[in-house]
Amino acid sequence: MDYLVSPSHPPDKLALNHTIKLGVMASGSGSNFEAIAQAINKGELNAKIEVLIYNNPSAKVKEKADRLNIPSILLNHRNYSHREALDQAIVEVFKVNKVEWVVMAGWMRIITDVLLNAFPHRVINIHPSLLPSFKGINAIEKALKSRVKITGCTVHLVDLEVDSGPILVQAAVPILPDDTAETLHHRIQIQEHRIITQGIALAALKS
Ligand code: GRF
Repeated sequence: MDYLVSPSHPPDKLALNHTIKLGVMASGSGSNFEAIAQAINKGELNAKIEVLIYNNPSAKVKEKADRLNIPSILLNHRNYSHREALDQAIVEVFKVNKVEWVVMAGWMRIITDVLLNAFPHRVINIHPSLLPSFKGINAIEKALKSRVKITGCTVHLVDLEVDSGPILVQAAVPILPDDTAETLHHRIQIQEHRIITQGIALAALKS
């Protein structure tokens, strides 16, 4: 189903005149990571994923990166004594790989100013709600519990407050009477895969 996306731009309006270098961070299944890679392969996003960082040894995103021939590096958060130390390691990997834009595609750790100061206004996040509603974890369960009739997903620039920062693009998703967290998450993810690349392109065009 074609749900509302705002702002809405025809694809040619999101064309970038140079290839931007992305560093992606992910903790889980990596469907958004895969959506970005597929958009690049189809010529819909003028970008290259230089490297994927994942923090969970069993994260499925690693297999997707291997299949797509995208280099990946495990930085297990359990090996770092504090958040800043993990972020410093992330910054080092991204700087070595000449990353210009950082995309948190399901990164389930809170980031610090170490990462934000290294990439000012260049860290992008995707969140499964219409921010500023339902910030933080379990956004989908929170939306169901609150009995709102519409939720969705948001791509935004990251600042130090969790799930905050300027909004780039949002997609609306209706909540159906029989929805469970799983069915709703599935429909939200279909929209996430549409807007994640739009958000990246919009951020690059605005910079
Ligand atoms: C997405 O729903 C995203 O909004 C949230 O984490 C999930 C990651 O999914 N931040 P995937 O790993 O990209 O499939």
